[in-house]
Amino acid sequence: MSQTAILNVDNIHKKYNEDKPNEVYVLKGIDFIIPPGQMTAIMGPSGCGKTTLLNLIGGLDPTSGGDILIEGNSIIAMNDSELTNFRRDNVGYIFQLFNLFEDQTSVENVSLPLLLPLVPTNEAITKAEMLLAEVGLGDRFNDLPGSLSGGEQQKVAIARTLVTSPRIILADEPTGDLDIATSDDIMALFRRMQEENQGMAVIIVTHSSRIAHQCDRIIRIENGKVFSDEVVN
Ligand SMILES: Nc1ncnc2c1ncn2[C@@H]1O[C@H](COP(=O)(O)OP(=O)(O)O)[C@@H](O)[C@H]1O
Ligand SMILES: [Mg+2]
Repeated sequence: MSQTAILNVDNIHKKYNEDKPNEVYVLKGIDFIIPPGQMTAIMGPSGCGKTTLLNLIGGLDPTSGGDILIEGNSIIAMNDSELTNFRRDNVGYIFQLFNLFEDQTSVENVSLPLLLPLVPTNEAITKAEMLLAEVGLGDRFNDLPGSLSGGEQQKVAIARTLVTSPRIILADEPTGDLDIATSDDIMALFRRMQEENQGMAVIIVTHSSRIAHQCDRIIRIENGKVFSDEVVN
């Protein structure tokens, strides 16, 4: 390999309730390599294991076989505390429902990830305000999530993910609850953020072919395997 891949998913298997009567064999050998700077859509029928796959890549759930490397580092080989630190520094997660703290303002929500590794508060707030301005919420710093629209809440969630400059963003149906115009707006934002964060990879699970075709590549999962993998842009 001439340059290190951002992500290498190598023959990943996943069974829930392994070796029990209620075992579910979800992923049966998934392989793909994501180069720096690629925006990838993951598609596939409901229940095919898209969320499962993101959770494995994010190190939130153990695999049943295979390897996952992020910039050449195997997350399978890490112990819990190594994994927690690695995840905090390298992986950003965005969900369909925005998972903001309802009793905290935009700035408080976005600065939170910086306060965990103990960045001084004023520095964290300055960075949070900068990112909120970049996502177009420069006038909503002190709003609580309840007073923002769904699209605006998702932008706060994206700013919160970007505040730690992750190498890889995992987004699970991030536009699933949003209308078309707002979804396009969120996709444009991902694209802009990716250009600003050199090499950052973005992986988006979506049911929308409109969203998928704004990505660089579409990987389709079916029956536990990669059904198709095509470059679209
Ligand atoms: N914690 C779990 N325990 C047992 N089965 C699970 C668990 N999480 C997901 N599953 C099963 O794994 C399969 C894949 O689920 P999921 O990854 O959520 O699919 P998708 O995101 O593609 O809709 C489904 O059959 C689901 O019921
Ligand atoms: Mg899912």
